[in-house]
Order: sequence, then structure tokens, then C-alpha cells
Amino acid sequence: MQLRKIEDLDLTGKKVFLRLDLNVPIKNGKIQDDTRIIEALPTIKYILERTKKLTMASHLGRPKVGGSPADSLEPVGIRLAELLEREIVLFPDYTESSSIQLLNSLGKNQIMLLENLRFHAGEESNDIDFAHHLIDGYDFYINDAFGTCHRAHASVSAAAEVLSGERRAAGYLVQKEIAALSSIIAKPDGPFTVIMGGSKVSDKIYVILNLLNTCNNMLIGGAMAYTFLKYKGVNVGSSRVEADKMALVETIMRNAEARKVQIHLPTDHICAKEFSEASDAVPVSGGIPDGLMGLDIGPATQAAFAKVVRDSKTVLWNGPMGVFEWEKFAAGTMSMAAAMAEVRGKTVVGGGDSVSAMHKSGFADKITHISTGGGASLEFLEGKVLPGLKVLMK
Ligand code: 3PG
Repeated sequence: MQLRKIEDLDLTGKKVFLRLDLNVPIKNGKIQDDTRIIEALPTIKYILERTKKLTMASHLGRPKVGGSPADSLEPVGIRLAELLEREIVLFPDYTESSSIQLLNSLGKNQIMLLENLRFHAGEESNDIDFAHHLIDGYDFYINDAFGTCHRAHASVSAAAEVLSGERRAAGYLVQKEIAALSSIIAKPDGPFTVIMGGSKVSDKIYVILNLLNTCNNMLIGGAMAYTFLKYKGVNVGSSRVEADKMALVETIMRNAEARKVQIHLPTDHICAKEFSEASDAVPVSGGIPDGLMGLDIGPATQAAFAKVVRDSKTVLWNGPMGVFEWEKFAAGTMSMAAAMAEVRGKTVVGGGDSVSAMHKSGFADKITHISTGGGASLEFLEGKVLPGLKVLMK
């Protein structure tokens, strides 16, 4: 895939529309994690060194059309102003005036941030009129919203297509993500181990099948492991199981066997009587008796999985090993984070929950690449061509 890059364009003095993914967690008006804002800075700064006529746009959350103050990008604008030491003007309403009219009304040193794109119905429906409303009058379109590239929305897809190919390009974050994730699925140094977790096999079937093409080991944890164990005839008690997905597991097992990939399943567990933070943690070896459910991988599994990880040259992690948000059931997930930190090779973490687990573990700075994309990184690893990237290709 050949992306047109921001460095390929001459932005000097030009009007630039920049789509970012500033969809950060906000509670009571306070940003909980500004990683996506920080990751957007290199591209913003690069543009500002060449032109002052910059409009930034993003969605935030999944608001209703029309929006509400709780879904406003205002806290993001404030944070951007602090980080850039520049005046950011948030335009709450751009239904009457087009984006370029508002940009033209700004003072010399002001940078524009459009209010949450999803307040407008045209965004998610990829509406061409809304796309024109956003992009008409600009010289260049830059997409640095990797986390949103899997959405064929107006600011990601239709607006880019309004401009001719030489006037649209990928920012630095998109480039960084693509380079890191591509290197994992193209020619990874072996042994290549995939740590796969999360709740449902059905959510991960395509990514698993695609990764089986290149990996040597797949470690399976999280609730999805119980579906695999059930398929193997192991007693899983009242653990969450996708009983109707045994055919998917069979497909995965067959593919793994054909490609000589070692599938590793948990051999012990941390269980509870019910799905509750207050439940006592009960260690169980082997099959899980009736009345108990697995909520984390046990110590023997942690040690066995960690050894496979440490002995690998490339490791990709997607999905937690247990309910890591609850202290008693977090050890399995944290042990994977610690093992990844010891790998002498390339380590990549992709997918929302494992990313927050990695940050929580304190080992994030030891990892080669932590993706800012949840659904986007998953779809990329499935081998899909993301609509937001398709329009940026040469
Ligand atoms: C994300 O957080 O994964 C992206 O910002 C996309 O958000 P969405 O899943 O609401 O489209």
C-alpha cells in the first residue's frame, strides 16, 4: 500500500483541513487520557510550521445528532491550546456558514477546531453535501485520524474524495500506525506470538484467521478461552461461553493445525461464583466445577504464556486475559504486559482494552508500538482496506 504522505505536499501558506481522532475519554468535563491528543501533535506542529490557516476536526463519542454539552470537544480544545500554546477557536455551530468561511473569519494566529462532527447527521451517513460543507475552499486534506479510518464517514471518506488525489495525504500518526501494524502482518521475525483475549471468538474470528497466516504461537485468554475449552470437552462451569460458535472454533483449530501454529489454552484459572467485583477469587486447576466461572487465567497459565512471549521475537497483543478492571482478576492481564516488556524484539499492542491494560501496568514505555486505534487496528489486522486509507493511496 502506497500512501500519499503529508511530507509529499507543499503546504506553505495553504488552507489545510485536518481530520484527527480526538475521541478521548472525558468524565465531568475532564479528560481522563490525552494520548490521542498527544499523538496528534507532530502533524499539527508540522502544518503550523508551514501555514497558519488550519482547521482541525474530530468526532467525540457517539452522540445524538444535534449534540449535547457533554459531547462537546471543548475540553479537547482547551488541552490543545495548552499543548500548542496557541489560541484555539472552537466553532460550535457550522450549519449556516461553511467551514472555510469560518476559517477565513479568524485572526492571524487563531487555529480553528470544529465542534464534534457527529452532531451533524451528514457525518455518519457519509453525505456528499456535508462533505462539501466541510472541505470546499481548502487547498489540502490531511487525515491523521487512524482510529477512525475504518469508518466511511463524511470527514474521513467523502470529504477526502472531493479534492483530487494530489491534494490529500496521511499525517504522521497514520503513517506510524500503518508501518507498525503492517510489519506485524507482513514479514514478522519469528517466533511470532499473538496474545489474543477479550470476550467473544465471534468478534475476533477474522483477525485470528488472518494472523494464523504468519504467527507461530497463539495464546488464548479472556472469556473467549472458555469457548475453546468447551470445544475441547473441558468442563468450564458457568463461564461465559459462545455455545453456538463451536464451528468457528473448529475452523480456527483446523487452520492452526494446517499452518503448524501452536494454540495455547489456559490450564488453570481464577474463578468466582458470580460475575461481580465483590466475589471471592477461587483458584482452579484443570476443569472448572459447576457453580464457578473463570474470570482470569491462573498462575500456571500465566507462567507458561509468559515464557512463550519472552522467547518470541515479535509479539502482538489484542484483548485482555481476564477482568483486569477488577484487582482480584487482573494478574493474568498484568503478567502479559510484564512479559511483553521483556521481549527482545518487536512488541505491538492493538485494541482498546489491552491498550488501557498496558498503560495501567506501567510497562507502556517498553513497548515498540501501542496503537491508538481500537476497531481500526482490528480491521487493519484482519487485512481489510480501511475506507479512510483507501482515499489516501497513490
Ligand atoms: C474509536 O474510539 O475507536 C474511534 O474514535 C472510533 O469511534 P467509533 O467506534 O465511535 O466510530
